[in-house]
Amino acid sequence: MARITAGIASSHVPLLGVAADTGKDRDAYFDPIFAGYDWTREWIAKPENKPDVVILVYNDHASAFDMKIIPTFAIGCGERYKPADEGWGPRQVPDVEGHPDLAWHIAQSLVLDEFDMTIINEMDVDHGLTVPLTMMYGAPEAWPAKVIPLAVNVVTYPPPSGNRCWALGEAIARAVQSYGEDLKVHVWGTGGMSHQLQGQRAGLINAEWDNMFLDGMVGDTQALRFIPHIEYLRETGSEGIEMVMWLIMRGALGRETKALHRHYHVPCSNTAIGHIVLEPVDGTVPPSPTLEGNNGAAQAAI
Ligand code: DHB
Ligand code: FE
Repeated sequence: MARITAGIASSHVPLLGVAADTGKDRDAYFDPIFAGYDWTREWIAKPENKPDVVILVYNDHASAFDMKIIPTFAIGCGERYKPADEGWGPRQVPDVEGHPDLAWHIAQSLVLDEFDMTIINEMDVDHGLTVPLTMMYGAPEAWPAKVIPLAVNVVTYPPPSGNRCWALGEAIARAVQSYGEDLKVHVWGTGGMSHQLQGQRAGLINAEWDNMFLDGMVGDTQALRFIPHIEYLRETGSEGIEMVMWLIMRGALGRETKALHRHYHVPCSNTAIGHIVLEPVDGTVPPSPTLEGNNGAAQAAI
């Protein structure tokens, strides 16, 4: 049976990709940022912690999608994904290898669980997905885990609610638990922390609020799922809403979590950067009101 063994949340600031790709990651400006990931890199390299598959929750920043098509929740079921050209040519990092069999299984389970996913078989992936891989793994020849991209619209209003994201995470946990192969699965939530890249409040950083959010990822509290959009906007700037993606990861870890490592640093580019490594303590998620019945109906129809 596949198991969710850990969750990681991390900012995905594109400048960190540039720093890593140009060998500046240990200079005076970037060292305090990359040093915060040293613990995580060591931890994830150990065989007992190494995931076979990462369900990587991220947002596309007008690279694969634009105003023509805006999926709220999309799952990548393809074989592989290339780094996107975000204006300076694609990053020179390995292609991302998918896990189509598990991805299609999750897609089926989520849709029968009444989360109407968009299924993507071909797309390029931007800094939202590749920067977290760099932060966790450095610069390997090939990424050491297969990746199932799970894209969330947080770019164009209306993004999904935090509560819906948490519930999607719970549905992802049910999907993974029903997959027959023995796989270690991580769920990563990316984006954040407080940042505003535009307008009069550009550069807004709210360390107190960010740390409240990091606190809320740990233990058995569910308070974060009920934060309204307007609070993210007011307290964390226009792009802080990316943090709803962390709640998909948090929901997937079940009732209670324990923090293994936590890091927060200001500034990084125009933003606050944070990351947290979580382990499920009590990984139970509520049963679905519909999944079992719909599965029966689906099977009867075949
Ligand atoms: C920046 C872009 C992002 O997508 C993000 O999440 C944080 C920062 C940036 O351009 O600095
Ligand atoms: Fe972003």
